[in-house]
Amino acid sequence: MMEGPLTCSIIKRARAKGLVEIVVHDLRDYTLDIHKRVDDYAFGFGAGMVLQCDPIFRCIEKLKSEREYDEVIFTAPDGEQFTQGMANSLSLLGNIIILCGHYKGVDQRVRDTLITKEISIGDYVLTGGEMAAAIITDAVVRVIPGAIGDEQSALSDSFQDNLLAPPVYTRPAEYRGMKVPDILLSGNERKIQEWEQDVAIERTRRLRPDLLGE
Ligand code: ADE
Repeated sequence: MMEGPLTCSIIKRARAKGLVEIVVHDLRDYTLDIHKRVDDYAFGFGAGMVLQCDPIFRCIEKLKSEREYDEVIFTAPDGEQFTQGMANSLSLLGNIIILCGHYKGVDQRVRDTLITKEISIGDYVLTGGEMAAAIITDAVVRVIPGAIGDEQSALSDSFQDNLLAPPVYTRPAEYRGMKVPDILLSGNERKIQEWEQDVAIERTRRLRPDLLGE
């Protein structure tokens, strides 16, 4: 599940350039159970399986014995809402562990003692935290300087200045009667930047007024 997102596109290139090192660990490699089980029934009357403490403690303790970690993140729907600002901050850190939740959750003692930050990617429930971890990783890696070919382009992403990005166009200048706005063909850089800013504000006001605090 992790291999696809972590071996394509910008992440693939950033890894190849040595800008980021990503290692995926399988909790089953850290269980002492002969059947490689890492989960068990929840105490009480709640339904569902819960990831056990021991494989997680063993895995994270081994990793921590090899290097220092700035954050140990847990992906969960009840975590703090993931934002561009968070991605920017995480991209400045040295080493991060992301623990993916699964089944009904992980034993609360893991969350109480090992985890330094809990992140949700949105108000919906995924089957597991793997895709959330891949999404967080993608957002963090793409803002590492050098990860994106054109250095400017990560800075002009939506949300970087709390604004949605303006629309973009490419050739041809006219397609099936639909024209690219004249201003973009004018070659006047200052005017184009003003137009982009105006359109970004207008789109944000229309589609995401909450970003403007309105
Ligand atoms: N695991 C399950 N749902 C999730 C969500 N919305 N965000 C992060 N991790 C999750």
